[in-house]
Amino acid sequence: MSLDRRGETQYLYTYKRIWTPIFACASVAVAQTASAYCDSTSGICYQGYSDPVMNMTIGLVFPPLSTPPSDEYMVQMVAPASFGWSGLSVGGTMADSLLFTLWPYNDQIMLGTRWTSGYVLPDPYAGPKITLLPDSTVNSTHIKASFRCQNCTVWQDGSIGGGDLNSFQLIAYVASYTTKVADPSNIDSSMQEHDAFNFFGLDLTTVHDSSYNSYIGSSASSSTVAPSSTTPASSSAPPATSTSAAPSAAQSAYGQCGGTGWTGPTACASGFTCTELNDYYSQCTPS
Ligand code: HEM
Ligand SMILES: *[C@@H]1O[C@H](CO)[C@@H](O)[C@H](O)[C@H]1NC(C)=O
Ligand SMILES: *[C@@H]1O[C@H](CO)[C@@H](O)[C@H](O)[C@H]1NC(C)=O
Ligand SMILES: *[C@@H]1O[C@H](CO)[C@@H](O)[C@H](O)[C@H]1NC(C)=O
Repeated sequence: MSLDRRGETQYLYTYKRIWTPIFACASVAVAQTASAYCDSTSGICYQGYSDPVMNMTIGLVFPPLSTPPSDEYMVQMVAPASFGWSGLSVGGTMADSLLFTLWPYNDQIMLGTRWTSGYVLPDPYAGPKITLLPDSTVNSTHIKASFRCQNCTVWQDGSIGGGDLNSFQLIAYVASYTTKVADPSNIDSSMQEHDAFNFFGLDLTTVHDSSYNSYIGSSASSSTVAPSSTTPASSSAPPATSTSAAPSAAQSAYGQCGGTGWTGPTACASGFTCTELNDYYSQCTPS
């Protein structure tokens, strides 16, 4: 009995010793670092990490370095569809960072931006301009959100790489394995604390991709179809382009809600307003 207890204490002690430096300082070596992978559907290549315990994959890709620096990048988040929600911190901490929340709602992708100054429910955060890329999907096993994020390198009390896009950034991600958000139909829903979090290190010198502009090109040319309705096999997806799919169904966050030839939903999910970007494309943006 006492042996077991000692074993347990030893484990906790080791756990603390391993992880404490990571909380204390983002520049120390982390347990895992990003490596290159390419999405076979989009052809976009990311620097990222697949967590074998949390079953999440996170990837990022940036435009080439420039003066002045670009304010955008692309992100991919993949998580089991069974998760209540998953989250990402591109600042590596919960506090004072640009946070992304993600969960499926009736095969729709609910992707939001949040911010908080402490370990409390993060507030919705306006400013970042998100465009879901066409390979984003919800299927029976996974939710995958691939998105372009503009105005996303600098946020309240923080920035990528501490303002140096050729330095280092700790990336953190979280998951609520089974507990759903309070109202999955609302991108601004409250939620309970995550069940798990982890980190990987991102060497920003490796993340600038000369193909970045072609990634934008391919997403722009196909964004005249609803970015979140790219699963034609999934007839239950509310943002389907067919008018037979309940026209009253609200379009999900950042999905298309209008434009020349658009026959899909024109109402947006709670917390979002249909904003005209041009004659051909209106998008559900945060209200
Ligand atoms: C009501 C909602 C939430 C509560 C109460 C909460 C609370 C907490 C607490 C207490 C910790 C520290 C845990 C520890 O050190 O063992 C933590 C860590 C963390 N949380 Fe949250 N959290 C919430 C939502 C979120 C969301 C939505 C995100 C991101 C989208 C997030 C990202 C993180 C990250 C990245 C960490 C680890 C890094 C750090 O400690 O700064 N949290 N959270
Ligand atoms: C991750 O996937 C493995 C293999 O399918 C599974 O056994 C495990 O429960 C999953 N973990 C989580 C947190 O979903
Ligand atoms: C960029 O985001 C910030 C918040 O991080 C916001 O205050 C600002 O208005 C945004 N700029 C534009 C042009 O949307
Ligand atoms: C579901 O989506 C995931 C992530 O994109 C993908 O790896 C998997 O092959 C898909 N499964 C099916 C049955 O389409």
